Amino acid sequence: MSTTNTPSLLTQQIDALLTGETNWVTNLANAAALLKDNLTDVSWAGFYIADPAANDLYLGPFQGKVACMHIQPGKGVVGTAYTEQKSQLVPDVHQFQGHIACDSATNSELVVPILQAGQVIALLDLDSQSFDRFKETDRVQLTEFVQALSQHLSLK
Ligand code: SME
Repeated sequence: MSTTNTPSLLTQQIDALLTGETNWVTNLANAAALLKDNLTDVSWAGFYIADPAANDLYLGPFQGKVACMHIQPGKGVVGTAYTEQKSQLVPDVHQFQGHIACDSATNSELVVPILQAGQVIALLDLDSQSFDRFKETDRVQLTEFVQALSQHLSLK
């Protein structure tokens, strides 16, 4: 796996980094920075926040190029991960029906939902300009990462 710090090490780091900090914007901002800085060949790392009342997923803290600000549940990779409450590992985004091309240079993507009490509260989105950048080990370890991150999020 091509990382400087592995996602499992990053899980320990995010837990330590966020201990004592309760602001969710602050915590997601540093989580995006930690991931973008440490995962190689990742062009965009960030979060979409669920607003079920508005039937909307809106752009949260991220590192990378300007991105789509609102995604409808069920639409694109992010919206699919939200609706299915299931991570989406996409080796070739051009083969994903309904993929939303915020950046035309993106070729692969991993989206991991962040759950609290059985509800998706936000989603981690990672993009790469390489095809097949993300592997099953990334999915497993980044699921652990968002579980640790979730302990430090109170989206109110
Ligand atoms: N490609 C995503 C949209 C978000 S951007 O990648 C930052 C999608 O299809 O949901």
